[in-house]
Amino acid sequence: PHVDPFDLVIFGGTGDLALRKLLPALFHRFVDGQVPAASRIIGVAREGLDDAGYRGLVRDVLADGGGASEQIDAFLPQLYYLPLDARKDEGWDTFAALVNEQPEHIRVFYLSTSPELFVDICNRLGANGLNGPNSRVVLEKPIGRDLASAMGIIEAVGRVFSEAQTFRIDHYLGKETVQNLLALRFGNALFEPLWNAGHIDHVQITVAETLGLGRRAGYYDRAGALRDMVQNHMLQLLCMVAMEPPASLSPDAVRDEKLKVLHALKPIDMRNSAQLTVRGQYKAGAIDGERVPGYLEELDDGQSSTETFVALKAEIANWRWAGVPFYLRTGKRLSARLSEIVVAFKSVPHSIFDATAGPLAQNRLVLRLQPDEGVKLWLTIKHPGPGGLRLRHVPLDMSFAEAFGVQQPDAYERLLLDVVRGNPTLFMRRDEVEAAWRWIDPILAAWGGAGELPRPYAAGSWGPSAAVALIERDGRTWNEDSE
Ligand code: BG6
Repeated sequence: PHVDPFDLVIFGGTGDLALRKLLPALFHRFVDGQVPAASRIIGVAREGLDDAGYRGLVRDVLADGGGASEQIDAFLPQLYYLPLDARKDEGWDTFAALVNEQPEHIRVFYLSTSPELFVDICNRLGANGLNGPNSRVVLEKPIGRDLASAMGIIEAVGRVFSEAQTFRIDHYLGKETVQNLLALRFGNALFEPLWNAGHIDHVQITVAETLGLGRRAGYYDRAGALRDMVQNHMLQLLCMVAMEPPASLSPDAVRDEKLKVLHALKPIDMRNSAQLTVRGQYKAGAIDGERVPGYLEELDDGQSSTETFVALKAEIANWRWAGVPFYLRTGKRLSARLSEIVVAFKSVPHSIFDATAGPLAQNRLVLRLQPDEGVKLWLTIKHPGPGGLRLRHVPLDMSFAEAFGVQQPDAYERLLLDVVRGNPTLFMRRDEVEAAWRWIDPILAAWGGAGELPRPYAAGSWGPSAAVALIERDGRTWNEDSE
């Protein structure tokens, strides 16, 4: 599809996200012909670099990522760099002049910085007249650190950019499997009639990473897993599973339905928060046979009560979901990189099989987000051959890579172009962000109030044993196929 030339400015242009995700995503879109020649990508950060220095930095990253050198050479001339400090006036007129060299272009200001800088940057963009009708601003999550700070940011940014110009990114919504959830739920007649408390026993959402802190200690230690993953990615996944069918795919139809789910989330009972939430922090351990240090050892001062793991049990208080638990867990330095949504159906009401047939198991629909994106539907069948009727549990298994023979594009590729084209469907509206914080705030308060330290877990494990207890207490288990 056609894309008009655009200018994309990355604040935090030398940061982890820019180098690891945004620039590679733009490069891949360039290779596919979707970054027209006149487009400019302008990196902005405090470091005193020039265009050549920035191009060198980006070249190394793209080359490490396996980019072909002729293609990298062709891409780099579209990159520019300007040193700029969001908190100081100097340099902003030079910056404005650079951006104004292309008055016709769509302008995207991507704020890949700490949320504390969002307001300063937007105010300076506004003061320099850079918030006109062809400007858009992208805000990275998490927006703020609680409801009050999020609302403060949203309102201050809103004085400079209209809601239609503001794109609050949650890159999980750009993942193919997440969008596929829409196709699966609403493009098939099979699932929707069963998609409710009458037939679904529970839902599990796991986002497990093997990565530790990397270069992100400064940000992460102030955030923790609840703010970093649950407030946004995990709740967005939950919304996609739980929402009512939107009347259309228009941006507001979809976001209205997600918002209703967030509003229907039952507040976690704070008196019982220890039964319903688990927070953990990784200690030294081994991943894939390699020793890795503990969280505290990765920090400069060696002290922190920040959680790197969260498990919790959520409930949605509405007709469709009453009584169906949604178990969520996410963590760093877990045993494997694995993200999946598991929809576990209720067992059959009566078994006609005798004990020698073996146990009946639940049907489970497993949507694997990464790695190896795909869908598995676990069914009970007869073990083939003579020897009586023995039951087996096997998956109908579809791997997208095998089925379509393509590598899935990274989520950011899709979302960056959605911003350029002005399509907000896969971005969070302000009321969604606020509703998510409204549910998260009491959990933060309960944890802070109890003054408890996070539970230790060994790097390379599946988190603290309390996370297993959280689900087993209800007579259920985390999906085993994944472990
Ligand atoms: C980011 C979080 O939003 O998502 C990171 O800030 C996390 O802590 C990352 O590692 C995970 O994204 P993905 O696409 O690798 O699953």
